[in-house]
Amino acid sequence: MGVAEARRRAAGEKLPRTIAIDGPSAAGKSSVGYRVAQRLGYPFLDTGAMYRALTWLALQRGVDIEDAQALGGLAHQVDVSLGPPLPGSPERCSIWVDGEDLTPMLRRPEVEAAVSLVSRAPALRRAMVAIQRRLARRGPLVMAGRDIGTVVLPKAGLKVYLDASMEERVRRRRKEMVALGRAVSVAEVRRNILHRDSIDSSRKTAPLRPAADAIIIDSDDLSEEQVVERVLALTDAKEC
Ligand code: DC
Repeated sequence: MGVAEARRRAAGEKLPRTIAIDGPSAAGKSSVGYRVAQRLGYPFLDTGAMYRALTWLALQRGVDIEDAQALGGLAHQVDVSLGPPLPGSPERCSIWVDGEDLTPMLRRPEVEAAVSLVSRAPALRRAMVAIQRRLARRGPLVMAGRDIGTVVLPKAGLKVYLDASMEERVRRRRKEMVALGRAVSVAEVRRNILHRDSIDSSRKTAPLRPAADAIIIDSDDLSEEQVVERVLALTDAKEC
């Protein structure tokens, strides 16, 4: 249990049991979600890691990424499990598929390029949503993604939609990639984000959009710490 949660529980306060953090690519969902989870003593689940791992697997196994049925078949055949980040990993979650650690594959360029296309497949999404709901039934958690507040956990105790301008998202994503040793141009990062935003927002199943009861945070003029504090302040106002 985190210090903050322990303090609040001792004071008889209740916290939201599930916290949904949605938003577009590179808005800071994983970094903020992870830190909020740590402060509350909750596990953090980055659902993007699940779609990325399935994308890697589809590419490895030669599954046609335009074939929604084949992608659904793949997702229903495999055993997906998630855990906390492994020491030294830049990811906020670790992910195994059929016992193999796929975490190091999540940011590969071929995964970046295909993940939004793969994530359109309705049957694949159904398989992922079933796992996500099962994990949420086990206990409190912070879950980040695109459709958490709208589809996966419509009754989440707190829903945050984290947004930022394109310029800011490009700047942050490029910084992350450079830190991982990948020399990418601003234009390339912008192209990738625009491509993913457009597919994620326009797909038929579970498109990216804020839930009607989500609280929208625009993080352009806020530091990561300030966003974390804002989300934590919102947990005070909610009981669930
Ligand atoms: O959050 P991320 O950039 O790691 O997500 C990668 C892709 O996965 C994103 O472009 C769309 C998809 N995704 C999704 O469709 N639904 C989610 N809940 C999370 C991610």
